[in-house]
Amino acid sequence: MARLELRKVRKNFDSVDVIHGMDLTVQAGEFCVFVGPSGCGKSTLLRMIAGLESVSGGEIVIEEEVVNRIPAARRGLAMVFQSYALYPHMSVRNNLSFGLENLNLARPEIDRRVIAAAKMLQIDDYLARKPGQLSGGQRQRVAIGRAVVREPRIFLFDEPLSNLDAELRVTMRGEISALHERLGNTMVYVTHDQIEAMTMADKIAVLREGRLEQFGAPLDLYNDPANRFVAGFIGSPRMNFLDGRIEGDGNDAAFVSIGGARITLPRERFDLSSGRPAQLGIRAHHLRLDRDSGNLDLVVGSVEQLGGETFVYAKAPGDGPLTLQLPGQVAVKAGERLAAALEKESVHLFDPEDGRSLRRRDPGA
Ligand SMILES: Nc1ncnc2c1ncn2[C@@H]1O[C@H](COP(=O)(O)OP(=O)(O)O)[C@@H](O)[C@H]1O
Ligand SMILES: [Mg+2]
Repeated sequence: MARLELRKVRKNFDSVDVIHGMDLTVQAGEFCVFVGPSGCGKSTLLRMIAGLESVSGGEIVIEEEVVNRIPAARRGLAMVFQSYALYPHMSVRNNLSFGLENLNLARPEIDRRVIAAAKMLQIDDYLARKPGQLSGGQRQRVAIGRAVVREPRIFLFDEPLSNLDAELRVTMRGEISALHERLGNTMVYVTHDQIEAMTMADKIAVLREGRLEQFGAPLDLYNDPANRFVAGFIGSPRMNFLDGRIEGDGNDAAFVSIGGARITLPRERFDLSSGRPAQLGIRAHHLRLDRDSGNLDLVVGSVEQLGGETFVYAKAPGDGPLTLQLPGQVAVKAGERLAAALEKESVHLFDPEDGRSLRRRDPGA
């Protein structure tokens, strides 16, 4: 178990800046997920932590030690790659033991670690096989096993499940979480998949274009996104957004969309001034059909009946597309006109210029 700290970490490739000064602390034993769109710098950051990439500025600290100049092999970390990176000509057993032999560990100790890891990952029946004789999931388990036998201070995972089919991804997600429970190690896990982030992480770091957008527990990010990017990135289906402005003050404060929908607001939750442009965010399951008091007029584009819930993809005339996630089986058809109501307490507001949340921050909280 080790604590990991990034202090103003920067990276440039020649004249191109890809990480712009990252501050982040992963506590000992935490499962931290770096999530963000492809190209935002996740792998670069992980490779700098691993020591596979030089650091252009700032410090990477493990426990109390700055490791910028310490070579990868001496950082006490182990990395698992998306590509598995197994040796095809070696048996599973040798793939697991190879790194330990290079560390000059005694044979009995190597065997003990290999057997323990193989049992833990349920690959002990395949130790004599070559990687080519294994399924994708089994290969990924071997790749994880190779990290486990090193008994690293920190595990680093770079999109380890991206090459697996959807069902296996769900299974392996659970297995990696179970591994974390069992070993209690610090783990840093990179993915572009926000569902992986939500389901596995103690803490999520949302990255965008080499910058940290928000860092926190999964549900804190979901419930209280710091900005419009995080709001749109975390959660599925994606949050709906409407453009408009604030009208009125006090108890009469309302958001009025470009299309003319008027939505009263819980005034005490937001920093508002009348006339201010704003962007409203509302999650699909916080919208409901309400023919009488619904203040959003919609035209249904398409409907997905999933049995337990109904997804309605609609358009608000003048305001653009909106997704509704309705419980149960709701009889609506394409082309139908509907009125929807928003759960006022679940509304988010953002500054349209810089995307920041307009939610009032309670200084005591
Ligand atoms: N060796 C390299 N040389 C130049 N640019 C690179 C190199 N590695 C990565 N990049 C650039 O750095 C940015 C971040 O890449 P990467 O860390 O791989 O993103 P992610 O893992 O989030 O998809 C991208 O714009 C990528 O093109
Ligand atoms: Mg990557």
